[in-house]
Amino acid sequence: MFSTKMKWLKLAGSLDEIEQRMRGKEVHPISFNNLSLLLVKHRGEFFLVKNKCPHQGMRLDEASCENGYIVCPWHHYGFDLKTGRGGGLYLDNYPLEKREDGVYAGFEYFSWF
Ligand code: FES
Repeated sequence: MFSTKMKWLKLAGSLDEIEQRMRGKEVHPISFNNLSLLLVKHRGEFFLVKNKCPHQGMRLDEASCENGYIVCPWHHYGFDLKTGRGGGLYLDNYPLEKREDGVYAGFEYFSWF
């Protein structure tokens, strides 16, 4: 049987460091863990999502945030920042965890053990 596990990788030394990287923007593209991702700050909370819209695969660099949703600039589908759900589709998102030594991002993977 397989199970789902989480691999945690250190994204930044602190939330302030993430804030500085974003340079006051609400949405900021980054490369991390060999993925094209998007840092999002909405209503004082940080999120990390895949920088690829599940509708037609377009990048979300110019996306906006509205009422807890990240809105794709191409066809305006909105995806819940906490669950990734929207329009019957699912935008991959990655939990962030603040620890004593920094901020970690969680990446799910399947394991046979
Ligand atoms: S590509 Fe994002 S809504 Fe169509």
